[in-house]
Amino acid sequence: MSFWGKKTFCIVTGASKGIGRHFAIEFSCRFADGSVVVLLARSKAALDYTKDIIQKCNPNLHVSVTTVDLSHPTIGSYKKILTEVLEEKKLCQSDFDIALLVNNAGTVGDVSQAAKDADNPSKWQEYLALNVTSCISITAQFLQVFDASSVRKTVVNITSLSAVTPMKSFAYYCVGKAAREMYFRVLAEESPDVDVLNYSPGPIDTDMVSEVIDNVGHKDMRDMFMNLKDTQKLVTLDQTTKRIVKILEDGKYSSGDHIDYYDSKLN
Ligand SMILES: NC(=O)c1ccc[n+]([C@@H]2O[C@H](COP(=O)([O-])OP(=O)(O)OC[C@H]3O[C@@H](n4cnc5c(N)ncnc54)[C@H](OP(=O)(O)O)[C@@H]3O)[C@@H](O)[C@H]2O)c1
Repeated sequence: MSFWGKKTFCIVTGASKGIGRHFAIEFSCRFADGSVVVLLARSKAALDYTKDIIQKCNPNLHVSVTTVDLSHPTIGSYKKILTEVLEEKKLCQSDFDIALLVNNAGTVGDVSQAAKDADNPSKWQEYLALNVTSCISITAQFLQVFDASSVRKTVVNITSLSAVTPMKSFAYYCVGKAAREMYFRVLAEESPDVDVLNYSPGPIDTDMVSEVIDNVGHKDMRDMFMNLKDTQKLVTLDQTTKRIVKILEDGKYSSGDHIDYYDSKLN
């Protein structure tokens, strides 16, 4: 079954800016009429702006905005958001061809600190709550909501090279991305009915990269990011979006794979 052009129930976390906003807009342009798009993040005004752009490019979608702080995950709260959206639109799971969850929200953590100095347990708990726990919890609750239906289930995890390669100054980020990705690999092993894609979008000029350049502790890393920016080698939002759109369209990956923007194996 082709991926785009279908009636889709899609959730994007961190849809208020950066990669999440761009993916939400570009994916939505490709959904069939009557699809539902749920945008999650903390900033209501920024989510409303994403919604406006989506509705201009595809007026026949239902777009729902929910403000949520994903650093405080609670049992059942995401299930409630999803079932309330379905009830409000008087729709049920079997009305859709595809249920798509894009786990995009994330933070880089304290990049000023070396791993040997990262001794604060509450800082770790707070970081992992947003970047690992809530992502796992929303995925499990999403799969429970769509469990009984025959809808095709696709879960995208926005990952990074940092999930597989240690990087100086990025202890929080590397730990978070590695843990998160392993959850999705286990999920793919256990659940042949769920299509899991770990997509690493490449280095992109978003607020996250600006935060890294401003705060990163290790000089080599600052030089590397500044050089990428100054020489315009950062990947653009359009480039990475085109890439993931094609990866999902072609479906040549195996569930659970880590696919990087730069990977040539799927070309
Ligand atoms: N930029 C890169 O080079 C790069 C490379 C590889 C992977 N990634 C990954 O791509 C994803 C998006 O990154 P980005 O560069 O687009 O970052 P960004 O511009 O900083 O956007 C982060 C998104 O996450 C949301 N978010 C942050 N904290 C949240 C919280 N507590 N509750 C709910 N939502 C929260 C933000 O929304 P609010 O502030 O409105 O809550 C925002 O929508 C991240 O997972 C990142 O690790 C980025």
